[in-house]
Amino acid sequence: MRFLMKLLVLSCLLIVVYQYSQCTELSRASLNSDISENSLKLQYLQVFKEKRSVSEQQLAPFNAKVGVASSNVPAYSNGNDSYYSGEDSYLYGTYMGLKWQCVEYARRWTFLRKSSVFESVDGANNMWTQLKYVERVADKKQFSLKHHPNGSPTPPTNESYLIYPINKGAPFGHVAVIVDVLPNAIRIAEQNYYFNYWTKNYSRELPVTYRNGLYYVQDISEIYGWMEIDDKKELKPLDEVTARQIQMKNAPKLDSNSICSHMNVHIYLFILFLCLCFGYFMFF
Ligand SMILES: *[C@@H]1O[C@H](CO)[C@@H](O)[C@H](O)[C@H]1NC(C)=O
Ligand SMILES: *[C@@H]1O[C@H](CO)[C@@H](O)[C@H](O)[C@H]1NC(C)=O
Ligand SMILES: *[C@@H]1O[C@H](CO)[C@@H](O)[C@H](O)[C@H]1NC(C)=O
Repeated sequence: MRFLMKLLVLSCLLIVVYQYSQCTELSRASLNSDISENSLKLQYLQVFKEKRSVSEQQLAPFNAKVGVASSNVPAYSNGNDSYYSGEDSYLYGTYMGLKWQCVEYARRWTFLRKSSVFESVDGANNMWTQLKYVERVADKKQFSLKHHPNGSPTPPTNESYLIYPINKGAPFGHVAVIVDVLPNAIRIAEQNYYFNYWTKNYSRELPVTYRNGLYYVQDISEIYGWMEIDDKKELKPLDEVTARQIQMKNAPKLDSNSICSHMNVHIYLFILFLCLCFGYFMFF
């Protein structure tokens, strides 16, 4: 009888210890993935610093950070324009696009600066015809996009998308974000157009001309026009609280139901404690 009891207590102990170690292992694994993501960011930073000291105009390898626009939206190098990484880019569990295509940058810019995203498109050129709105991620409220063809009676507006059709060098067209407006020029931020490091907080400055009552953005390739987010200044940059809420909502549901939720770890510890007490009184 006594032997049976010992066996029971011992196996109970073993099971609890095993379950608990599984839990800690799992949580450590999820922690590790966070760490590797951070060290990846650090690597970008190191590469960026090293390369910048070598040459401002040097080509940036795939994944290198080439610059930052609008204070917190980094642009990464796609390496060259024939490269297709096939890697998805996520931010706070929200899909941004393919690393490091131009559409990915435009969507990430929209997420960080306007807390919103736009629908999936096959190519940047499709944005001009397909996109009617951006959607605020937190509450799914939609804000319409106003299309201004290149050659419009109003000048290009800050924080709009500049959209290019398909051309010889760009089989999917191109998109850039207007990040500053000067009297006769605009400054844009983009990915997968040139592959050098930016020297300022934008990738290129394009002249704007005025002819016969119409404003034109000049570039070496044709431009459809610019799309303005009609939000009446309602959209705000993504703040940390909202980012965390979005991340929580996007987190796999498994976590909260699994044996390893915070609550259950405490329950296991409690059972372990009970077993120990029980064992102590039984044997000594
Ligand atoms: C770029 O940086 C300059 C000065 O460093 C600043 O005045 C300007 O607002 C910045 N522009 C953007 C779009 O972040
Ligand atoms: C483009 O970049 C990728 C990734 O860095 C590389 O593997 C490929 O060889 C490059 N292609 C050309 C044509 O440079
Ligand atoms: C354009 O918007 C950026 C923020 O996205 C701001 O820093 C910059 O000052 C704005 N430029 C103009 C001309 O309003």
